[in-house]
Amino acid sequence: MSTILVTGGAGFIGANFLRLLVPRHPEHRFVNVDKLTYAANLASLAPIAERDNYALARVDIADEAAVAKLFADTDPDVVIHFAAESHVDRSILGPGEFVRTNVHGTFVLLEACRKHWAGRLDGKLFHHVSTDEVYGSLGPEGLFTEETRYDPSSPYSASKAASDHLVRAWGRTFGLPFKLTNCSNNYGPLQFPEKLIPVMILNTLERKPLPIYGKGENVRDWLYVEDHCEAIWRVVNEGALGETYNVGGNNEMKNIDVVDRIVELVAEATGADLEELRALKVFVTDRPGHDLRYAIDSSKLQRELGWTPRETFESGLAKTVRWYLENDAWIDAVRTGAYRDWIAANYGDR
Ligand SMILES: NC(=O)c1ccc[n+]([C@@H]2O[C@H](COP(=O)([O-])OP(=O)(O)OC[C@H]3O[C@@H](n4cnc5c(N)ncnc54)[C@H](O)[C@@H]3O)[C@@H](O)[C@H]2O)c1
Repeated sequence: MSTILVTGGAGFIGANFLRLLVPRHPEHRFVNVDKLTYAANLASLAPIAERDNYALARVDIADEAAVAKLFADTDPDVVIHFAAESHVDRSILGPGEFVRTNVHGTFVLLEACRKHWAGRLDGKLFHHVSTDEVYGSLGPEGLFTEETRYDPSSPYSASKAASDHLVRAWGRTFGLPFKLTNCSNNYGPLQFPEKLIPVMILNTLERKPLPIYGKGENVRDWLYVEDHCEAIWRVVNEGALGETYNVGGNNEMKNIDVVDRIVELVAEATGADLEELRALKVFVTDRPGHDLRYAIDSSKLQRELGWTPRETFESGLAKTVRWYLENDAWIDAVRTGAYRDWIAANYGDR
């Protein structure tokens, strides 16, 4: 049995990861290490919260003393590091928290691993979950490979790039066993409604304007969140130590085409008038430093570890729209802040 610390396990990808892996692997103990920021939602974890092999530790990864105590209490074998401030727009408004959590928090975790595992590194692993945004922007041609030079544009991507460098440096300098995955844009159930796809689904349902940056020409490579989670688990178990694997969906889409498809799916599912929904689109001033195109070459992961995404963009988006239509309680709680009150009441003084 291994003890696996999953940082940021109450966020979008971390919660999807735990919901998939905790029931499937009763032989492992999963500890969700999360500060429970605005982006966390414990309601997302309700299906696994009572499982014997799952526990929650409310810990800020940038708090050295709290992390040292966590390591002493849990004696982990593996750390899968999802925790981060993750929203690019927020990083432009207030970059400080991004440097604190994404850079300093990663440093604190690496140091905790180095100290706690000193002299007994066999079977230990630090898996760092990162983004393709570290590579910067592509022109109309080409793909990001694992060898692409880092060239981040936003405070978010710069903080993730810094954390990737720290992980590799701790590997080379201190021999820390690590692996790294850089993934393209994720979408799917449980995503906080500040990111493109859930914002567009919910605004369409509520007949609110659909704000599209610039002309909607920016291209992203979309991956269904469960495909990302399966890729991480494959790399954790079968990937080579010290290696980086790019994860992507081969689903390049312009933002405007994503929005158009969402509008069509919502119209189909609810019987709403398609033209009325299309008229909700509004073009707004572009984000400063907005990268034009991301596209990822994940052939290394496919070739070496046999991973392929299960969902196409069409099937994954249809599932996602259905999920947001069927989960009013989750959405209402996130939007009204009711879940924040619940966290304060239940965890406020811990
Ligand atoms: N969402 C994407 O499209 C995407 C794509 C590639 C990589 N990633 C990476 O995957 C990871 C997870 O992304 P996400 O979309 O689930 O993010 P998210 O914002 O939904 O969740 C982040 C989680 O981290 C927690 N957290 C934040 N600061 C913390 C701190 N100081 N200590 C402990 N916990 C803290 C939050 O409470 C939240 O539960 C991030 O590292 C992100 O960079 C995301």
